[in-house]
Amino acid sequence: VITYRTDLAGITPSMLDGFFVGWPNPPSPETHLRLLAGSYAVVLATDDDTGQVVGFINAISDGVLAAFIPLLEVLPTYQGRGIGSELVSRLSDLLADFYGIDLLCDDDVVPFYDRLGFQRASAGMYVRNYQHQSGRP
Ligand SMILES: CC(C)(COP(=O)(O)OP(=O)(O)OC[C@H]1O[C@@H](n2cnc3c(N)ncnc32)[C@H](O)[C@@H]1OP(=O)(O)O)[C@@H](O)C(=O)NCCC(=O)NCCS
Repeated sequence: VITYRTDLAGITPSMLDGFFVGWPNPPSPETHLRLLAGSYAVVLATDDDTGQVVGFINAISDGVLAAFIPLLEVLPTYQGRGIGSELVSRLSDLLADFYGIDLLCDDDVVPFYDRLGFQRASAGMYVRNYQHQSGRP
């Protein structure tokens, strides 16, 4: 059974193992917990059988007009069961009174967000400092 939660009470770094698949220099579980704690809103999916976090999404925000979704990930063995959609849907509900909710994604994930009510932007711009991929100290 998958449980969804919007707080970090009782979440430890060891419950966050396995994320950032394919990242050459990923944040550690400790840093992962730190970035969740620094977020405006989070939704976590946990597996009741193992106690592990199996999916998460976070938002950062100015608290007035705009929210941005930097990260969404479901552990590979849990993908394709609707967990990612549920995370987006629950976070969208939390952010429903903001003017804008933005995110960047690869082309292959566009149909996933399209189904969840997001519109495709004509352009997005970004900077990546890859030497800081594992996070600020
Ligand atoms: C994107 C992601 C969060 C979806 O999580 P999930 O729990 O598998 O999502 P759901 O089960 O709700 O929906 C799966 C649907 O999304 C589609 N989908 C998800 N990622 C996809 C991808 N990279 N390419 C093509 N389709 C994708 C699946 O085909 C599936 O469609 P279907 O229901 O028609 O078969 C998950 O694939 C993931 O963690 N990917 C790696 C990280 C990532 O890309 N995050 C998004 C960053 S913007």
